[in-house]
Amino acid sequence: MRFGYFDDANREYVIETPKTPYPWINYLGNESFFGLISNTSGGYCFYKDARLRRVTRYRYNNIPVDNGGRYFYINDNGDVWTPGWMPVRKDLDAYECRHGLGYTKIRGERNGLSVSQLSFVPLKFDGEVHQLTIKNKSNGEKHFKLFSFIEWCLWNAWDDMTNFQRNFSTGEVEVEGSAIYHKTEYRERRNHYAFYWANTPVDGFDTDREAFIGLYNGFDCPQAVLAGQATNSIAHGWQPIASHYFDLTLKAGEEKTIIFVLGYVENPEEEKWESLNVINKKRAKAMQEQFKSPDQVDKAMQELRAYWDELLSVYVLKSDDDKLNRMVNIWNPYQCMVTFNMSRSASYFESGIGRGMGFRDSNQDLLGFVHQIPERARERILDIAATQFEDGGCYHQYQPLTKKGNHDIGGGFNDDPLWLILATAAYIKETGDYSILDEQVPFDCNPNNTATLLEHLTRSFYHVVNNLGPHGLPLIGRADWNDCLNLNCFSTTPDESFQTYGDPNGRVAESIFIAGMFVFIGPEYSALLRYKGRNEEADKADKLIEEMKQKIYEHGYDGEWFLRAYDAFGRKIGSKENEEGQIFIEPQGMCVMAGIGVENGYAIKALDAVKERLETPYGIVLNDPPYQRYDKSKGEITSYPPGYKENAGVFCHNNPWIICAETVVGRGTRAFELYKKITPSYLQDISDLHKTEPYVYSQMVAGKAAARPGEAKNSWLTGTAAWTFTAISQWILGIQPDYNGLRINPCIPADWKGYTVRRKFRGATYNITISNPNHVEKGVKSITVDGKEISGNILPVFNDGKEHDVQVVMG
Ligand code: GLC
Ligand code: GLC
Repeated sequence: MRFGYFDDANREYVIETPKTPYPWINYLGNESFFGLISNTSGGYCFYKDARLRRVTRYRYNNIPVDNGGRYFYINDNGDVWTPGWMPVRKDLDAYECRHGLGYTKIRGERNGLSVSQLSFVPLKFDGEVHQLTIKNKSNGEKHFKLFSFIEWCLWNAWDDMTNFQRNFSTGEVEVEGSAIYHKTEYRERRNHYAFYWANTPVDGFDTDREAFIGLYNGFDCPQAVLAGQATNSIAHGWQPIASHYFDLTLKAGEEKTIIFVLGYVENPEEEKWESLNVINKKRAKAMQEQFKSPDQVDKAMQELRAYWDELLSVYVLKSDDDKLNRMVNIWNPYQCMVTFNMSRSASYFESGIGRGMGFRDSNQDLLGFVHQIPERARERILDIAATQFEDGGCYHQYQPLTKKGNHDIGGGFNDDPLWLILATAAYIKETGDYSILDEQVPFDCNPNNTATLLEHLTRSFYHVVNNLGPHGLPLIGRADWNDCLNLNCFSTTPDESFQTYGDPNGRVAESIFIAGMFVFIGPEYSALLRYKGRNEEADKADKLIEEMKQKIYEHGYDGEWFLRAYDAFGRKIGSKENEEGQIFIEPQGMCVMAGIGVENGYAIKALDAVKERLETPYGIVLNDPPYQRYDKSKGEITSYPPGYKENAGVFCHNNPWIICAETVVGRGTRAFELYKKITPSYLQDISDLHKTEPYVYSQMVAGKAAARPGEAKNSWLTGTAAWTFTAISQWILGIQPDYNGLRINPCIPADWKGYTVRRKFRGATYNITISNPNHVEKGVKSITVDGKEISGNILPVFNDGKEHDVQVVMG
């Protein structure tokens, strides 16, 4: 069953009912100011950091689900309703929600009144614009009341939901004309305030929640709205809100537009005040000036569209498969941008107060984003590297506002350092900008202790080499990619963190996954050394990589597939000798991506074992058989009920590794089959089971051992976005940025006739036509560039601002 459809021409997903199986959301904002908005206008916004600068309040896990947001209430002669359906939930005569790239349009209609709400964050603007267009579609004049509503968060979202003994006394607002200013704590150390402004004179307002809603009412029946009259309340402590009130009359067929701006402002210390305790509103007023008229809104929307036109023009696929085209050209790059901005901080499953930016997550997110805005990727790499320790280890997370490492979680996740090499290599392959390697970057954010980025990569590489266990394989530390495989933890008491309990410095537990990563990513490090002319060091690195590969053959293969790990007692994990957890997905993907086992048949066997033991109709589960009971020597992975999360759920992030691995062994039909299993545009018709948005990937889909296999959770913020984009754009469609040019190396289903890709790369545009006359899965027979055949499969760097015609024949 589906709840909407793709409008590819407008790059929108159109939702036709407010009652989706779960709130289906969108993100507003590109760089500093962000909003989450659901198909019923729920959600919240924040400036840079969802925990420390939360602008509006949102209660997670509420009942009904998704209660609270940007609401517009209508009182039409006693008939109270909301055009987004929530929170009043009155039946609508018409409803539609269009989630587009950086904006959302919601339209609701009842009794001849149609209300359209456009919400977006303009480029380079620290606020949301809500444009409301109200049309009287009836035959007679309509007289009705309109109320806006948002609830302020007292900035620190954690404090806001816990520290009421203080918070209920600190709230402060100012009202001036149609602008409501929120200035809690501005009197002391904060230099920021927020405002909610309307471009139209109000007939009243409210800023005190109790006055507007009523102590015992809910969002569905605010007493001021029921009464059809605002109370002009001024909040002193308790819960400040912002609500504008308008008394409106529209003739038959008449339309009225009101523009609202919900903005965030920072003032320099010396310009904080206008007079005693009156905030300086100069900057806010300048922001209001920018959106006085619908023309200004149109212009800002055009700029937003142009911005996305430009970003999406870097990689454009034309194939016979619409579901594929829309993922590659629109939704997957869009999700990559969102994961790049949010990391794992704020979604409808991530509360915005827990984790900051993940070291490994952000490095991987960058893989799907780097071609869109390489300058921002460059900055991100340097920020991340600055949280690395001198010994090559690194903080597992850092806070986006301060860019400092997070002490609570600390370090000791031994895969982390290697991801920095992969991200840096991806940046250089895209841009050719080797200068990043010479940047001076701090250790542990200490500006007095710096080294070049290349030196940081050296520390990353040798962090593995210096931390090998009894089999010569990498020590796992607190965990590797699988945060839940905690082999040094041994926690038996609830409330202890699986990740930070126990000694991460155990010298026995080893990870075959990190070993595979070392062989996969290590060669990038040695390639960079060679570019720098440091051949001896590169030779040494290559030797260490080769040694690691041999160790995997000796101690990391179980006969039919790659082992997962050795535990703290030197026992195998992910082996046929185990009763449960006999096979894990991650080492099969990573080792084969590294080319391990291609020469001796291990790779094919491992991938066949994945098919036989791990594959389901909804993707590949993480391990099998699932763990049935908690085992403190393995940690959190055994804490989940079978079929969920890391205990045999389909953890989508690692599925693309198998997809990539299948292309390494040349099985394009298989690779694409697996791609379709987890790619949301192919799952639209099972939305009732799948539950989450059919335009973005979810982190997890319930596995075969779960009660409802195929049910997804945790949509949006997942490494699946970057990795599936990498898998489809580079490993299947085969357009691979490389150090010396654009490598063409497709691996596709045999029945494909061909496709074209328009790729912008280092200052030129490549119009690439790939044809497959002999219906092979892999192999390039010939390539002509601008009419001339080239040898090899690397397209040269032109950097001439021109278009180049590329004809590729597979065979
Ligand atoms: C809070 C504290 C209490 C303190 C009082 C006055 O109630 O809990 O310990 O004495 O404030 O500062
Ligand atoms: C979460 C984490 C990611 C980790 C994965 C598997 O998605 O953000 O860092 O690799 O879980 O445990």
